[in-house]
Amino acid sequence: GGDSGATGGGGGGGDDKITMGFSQVGAESGWRTANTKSIQESAKEAGVELKFSDAQQKQENQIKALRSYIQQKVDVIAFSPVVVSGWDTVLKEAKDAKIPVILTDRAVDSADKTLYKTFLGSDFVEEGKKAGQWLVEQYKDSKDTVNIVELQGNTGAAPAIDRKKGFGEVIAADPKFKIIASQPGDFTRAKGKEVMEAFLKSNPKIDVLFAHNDDMGLGAIEAIEGAGKTPGKDIKIITIDAVHDGMQALADGKINYIVECSPLLGTQLMDLAKKVVKGEQVPERVVTEETTFTPEQAKQALPDRKY
Ligand code: AHR
Repeated sequence: GGDSGATGGGGGGGDDKITMGFSQVGAESGWRTANTKSIQESAKEAGVELKFSDAQQKQENQIKALRSYIQQKVDVIAFSPVVVSGWDTVLKEAKDAKIPVILTDRAVDSADKTLYKTFLGSDFVEEGKKAGQWLVEQYKDSKDTVNIVELQGNTGAAPAIDRKKGFGEVIAADPKFKIIASQPGDFTRAKGKEVMEAFLKSNPKIDVLFAHNDDMGLGAIEAIEGAGKTPGKDIKIITIDAVHDGMQALADGKINYIVECSPLLGTQLMDLAKKVVKGEQVPERVVTEETTFTPEQAKQALPDRKY
């Protein structure tokens, strides 16, 4: 991945321009692209020197990027961890080098909470619950079994674990809801399509698809249409994110409900970064505000949607 000019901050110098090393997960989804743009634009606006790298959904690339930022003595490191586990060693290295770390978008499972200053991002369990609540409401007057297939995010990622959990908890209230297949689609359109094709082959009766993001849902729509079925009607579809293409599919009736996950974390991230570099106190958790969309609401929101 590219990075931007100038030398790292570290100590010294009178000017208070700070340097941030940011390790992004990848470019797997529309959400991620919007998130990257938000971070890059906000850095510019805030006068933060940004060193940016794209890990292509590989933890080893993220660890390399973090080590390189430590070596360059950046003032602050921020990253969106591709999976929750396996970060303790490199986070300890950053701490020993006295470089504050901010978790952005996704959490880590480190027991030692002093390894990072704060965690900015969505409540993914809550998102999964909202998806489940819509489903429960939709089928409240029916006693028939509801066969659900689930496209999960990449294995071991916080949003994949938490959305599955939240959704599962809510639908567990009624045994008529059955998850008949659940597989990772890695948050990509291509994998969403591939896995949905397999689901359709092995399951003659699918009532509902719950996809952990819009992109997998959009890939699945192609698979459903390819199998001669009508997305949104023969198979009801719930996704998470509310990026432009997802909202368009919702407005078109191919997706039935979207739970929003906001990628616009840049401004808050730069704000937090300046504070932690100054040694100011910041909340240990900053939760993103988000809503949900029906097809009608999507039609209304689309013209002003920024991403
Ligand atoms: O971590 C956020 C998730 O990652 C988004 O919901 C998904 O689209 C992205 O790839």
